[in-house]
Amino acid sequence: MRAITFLILIIFSVSSWAKPLPFLKQKNQIQQLIVDGKPYLIQGGELGNSSASRMSYMLPIWPKLKTMKVNTVLAPVYWELIEPQQGKFDFRLLDELIVSARQHDMKLVLLWFGSWKNSMSSYAPPWLKRDFRKFARARAKNGQPQEILTPFSPANLAADIAAFSALMAHVKEVDSQQQTVLMIQVENEIGMLPSARDHHPLANDAFTRQVPSRLVKHLEKNKQQLQPHVKTLWANQGYPSKGDWQTIFGQSIATDEIFMAWHFAQYVNQIVQAGKKIYNLPMFVNAALNRPDKLPGEYPSAGPLPHVFDVWQAGAADIDFFSPDFYNPRFRYWSDLYARQNALFIPEIRFDENVGAKSLFTFGHYHGFGFSPFSIESGSATASKHLAAAYTLVKQIEPYIHQYQGTTHLKAALVSKAEKSSQLHFSEYLFNVKHDLTLGWSEEAENEFWQEGAAIIVQLNMNEFIVSGTNVVITFSHTSQNAERRVGIEQIFEGEFIDGKWHPGRSLNGDQSHQGRHLRIPYGRWQTQKLTLYSYQ
Ligand code: DGJ
Repeated sequence: MRAITFLILIIFSVSSWAKPLPFLKQKNQIQQLIVDGKPYLIQGGELGNSSASRMSYMLPIWPKLKTMKVNTVLAPVYWELIEPQQGKFDFRLLDELIVSARQHDMKLVLLWFGSWKNSMSSYAPPWLKRDFRKFARARAKNGQPQEILTPFSPANLAADIAAFSALMAHVKEVDSQQQTVLMIQVENEIGMLPSARDHHPLANDAFTRQVPSRLVKHLEKNKQQLQPHVKTLWANQGYPSKGDWQTIFGQSIATDEIFMAWHFAQYVNQIVQAGKKIYNLPMFVNAALNRPDKLPGEYPSAGPLPHVFDVWQAGAADIDFFSPDFYNPRFRYWSDLYARQNALFIPEIRFDENVGAKSLFTFGHYHGFGFSPFSIESGSATASKHLAAAYTLVKQIEPYIHQYQGTTHLKAALVSKAEKSSQLHFSEYLFNVKHDLTLGWSEEAENEFWQEGAAIIVQLNMNEFIVSGTNVVITFSHTSQNAERRVGIEQIFEGEFIDGKWHPGRSLNGDQSHQGRHLRIPYGRWQTQKLTLYSYQ
């Protein structure tokens, strides 16, 4: 009896020590990532694909990440390396990664390079690759097999689930106390190539079957809010509620993509379900963004792209969110589309000199919870410097970001040579944010390329603001119809937040505010300023 009581006590005290795992919490229209009970911003960097396959290679990278103020590393876990023989797992590499991250006071987001990595299945273990009769490949329209595991094979799915489950069990075992691992990206840039759909016999068979009622019900339930792409295809068919894929969506390459999206979503959702059952971390799937002039099959089709979100949402309800990988210039266009899910996390963006500005915009405008340039260890000196500068500013004002996420007190502007200005409203004030080089005061204004400018603006109360950013000049006006109502700058101080406390530097007046006409963070500077406005007539 005493032994049982003792056991109960131990179980009770262990469970009462156990802290909640990282999770996503809805706050107004956005989601916050909660870590250790507090909102957390991933100031991230994703490693180049092969860097985390040898920890000695990582040694010089950790200090670089520190210099860039990265707090979270996105690192692959390679199926081929953790399961060298079927059912025999080797997690030594992952263990070393976790220990090294802890030594450098960093968190991890693990990227499961499982069945698919950039469409292909190159990270499948050799035993699986060789057994191609059991672990079937997708086929192109001409019947040629591709190095892409078909999502229609139960053996492929079972093998991925087994490996992913072992991974999550291991992460739970080694990390549930310290919680260095925050989230999991499941697979990487899933997509069908070079045909819009798989032509494996299993796929051909599935293509003739009825569209699952779960998908049709989702369409019917969300008829008014469907993405235009899916809605139009369905509408053109007369909104049928029953039938095979071509009956519901018509006979086109777009239907092929929808069909694949459903089956990819189903496959990944089962992996996610299995993983979460073991260790319930937030899990997401990323997408390679398509270009407007490319047809399905010419880009990695059927991943979680906005035009097929409805299909993924219906087929993969256990995935927490979908993320865009940015290798094209339409940053706002795609971010707007992904942010509609109420959560924006950017796991990859080309590591160029504008990532610093874009990170400010992600946190300040989209209220996203994370940003992460790709191949973080190999950016240019300038790109790395800008990222460090941006992350430093964000870190300083982070408590305000968390406080005002999901509210109109937190906004941001992103300006460039192409889009020179942006207007932001705060109560009665209108902020006209322009790129600093529009002043024409600096010789860099003649340059062919302008570094982008950005500012996060936090409204502390009616008249007081924090402005953190780079390369901007801001003027102020009143929203009232009364032309006599004007806005004046009461005071501006430059300064820093140290451990949450404001340490003012110079008072910026005279030439620094153009005699009270503007707030300016000159080209090449990264700064926080505190601003007080007033209105008069
Ligand atoms: C996107 C992928 O997700 C990354 O793993 C990497 O392959 C980059 N493209 C390009 O290098």
